[in-house]
Amino acid sequence: MNISTNITIFGGTGDLTFRKLLPALYTMFLAGKLPAGSRIVAVGRRDYSDGAYRVLAEDWVKRFSRLPYTEERFADFAQRLVYFRMDLSNQTDYGRLDAFFAQDTVENHLFYLAVAPRYFAVITEGLKRVRGARAGKVMLEKPFGESLDAARTLNEELEGYFGPERIYRIDHYLGKEMVRNIQAIRFANPIFTDVWNARSIEAVQISALEEVGVETRGGYYDASGALKDMVQNHLFQILSIVAMERPGELSSAQMHTGQLDVLRALRPPKEYDICDTLVLGQYEGYREEPLVAADSATETFAAMRLFIDNGRWRGTPFYIRTGKKTGVRQMEVSIVFRAPRPGVEPNILIIKIQPTEGVYLQFNIKRPGDTDDLIPAKMDFCQNCNLIHQLNTPEAYERLITACIAGERFWFSQWDQIELSWNYIEGLKRRHREAGLPVLPYAPGSRGPDAAQTLLGRTGRRWYE
Ligand code: BG6
Repeated sequence: MNISTNITIFGGTGDLTFRKLLPALYTMFLAGKLPAGSRIVAVGRRDYSDGAYRVLAEDWVKRFSRLPYTEERFADFAQRLVYFRMDLSNQTDYGRLDAFFAQDTVENHLFYLAVAPRYFAVITEGLKRVRGARAGKVMLEKPFGESLDAARTLNEELEGYFGPERIYRIDHYLGKEMVRNIQAIRFANPIFTDVWNARSIEAVQISALEEVGVETRGGYYDASGALKDMVQNHLFQILSIVAMERPGELSSAQMHTGQLDVLRALRPPKEYDICDTLVLGQYEGYREEPLVAADSATETFAAMRLFIDNGRWRGTPFYIRTGKKTGVRQMEVSIVFRAPRPGVEPNILIIKIQPTEGVYLQFNIKRPGDTDDLIPAKMDFCQNCNLIHQLNTPEAYERLITACIAGERFWFSQWDQIELSWNYIEGLKRRHREAGLPVLPYAPGSRGPDAAQTLLGRTGRRWYE
């Protein structure tokens, strides 16, 4: 048989595969985005027949696919889905995998590493035994290693084998509709483009609050924490997109350089008064979560105030906050413009990323009636309240897998970006630790420790939401 694109998922029985990857692939299939003649090979350790695995997959697709599930369409999709049992750590199993592939003609290989980073090296080694693998593409999920040093070594190994151009590092926030919209809002609207700088913008807030706790991921999360889990990757990506210079052309290289320039201009951790810069918190009850250490000091909440010391942004604080069990699921970027004079509300532009996708704009008008008082007027555009748009917006993983198949690198993280952000976050965290600052407890359902508010307190502003 001729297979045009073979997608091998290492970690085929993991949470990510069931919740995100299979539903995304099914939707891609329905939308005609899965190339004709594709096959998906889910690799796992457990003993499933193709049939048993398909039954399992069907259940998750039913629950999580964006486009409606139907029995017939799933049956068509399932024809392309097979299960391959192997032990990732056993090199001879890669010989079996090779023999399995050799039964067909595979034109293009795509390997999705939906596993913990400790398996990356052994998989890379194993793939040396699989014919055609070297010419394939690899998709990787964060974390890219257990420490920065480990991630560097892994990266060298991966790049040494596949070459940097064939590695696609996923940051699923880069697949979100409104994250992609930031540039359009910035650059296609002179009312914003021309004032997108410190002279007109008093502060930027990037806020990603989650209602859920760590759920079943305590083991991973406890070794990671909010800074590494959310800030270093997703929120720094957003920060750099919000703050970057306009790319000369919309190429992956220019986008990448623009983002890197922002990260390089971040004020170094050692130059901050860390007490006024970083607040860490842990929700009460976190230590009782499964697989979390009973004396864990891991932060489930982080808020910070950073500065970008370049010509565009000098003096404008960028506030970032994220946390689990904060009572709400809400991800927004707020641009707070300088108020024309004291006592007048600022103009505020809020880019709503999720769950509502939209744009909110606050500006001043005269209070109606026989008065000259000013009051804020609020325009609230909700993009995904309209069912038509909702159905047409691909989910992040659909977009990113589709882009990888097409060889488009625009919305993937690059290694030097990851390395810079990682280094930066480690520097901040080290300062926090060395200063003996506590990880503050907060009540589940609250917006984190009060100190997160105090970070902006002196400006008289609040977190906008
Ligand atoms: C993941 C983090 O990368 O992003 C999770 O590991 C977090 O801890 C998730 O919950 C949030 O993603 P989303 O798309 O639900 O905002």
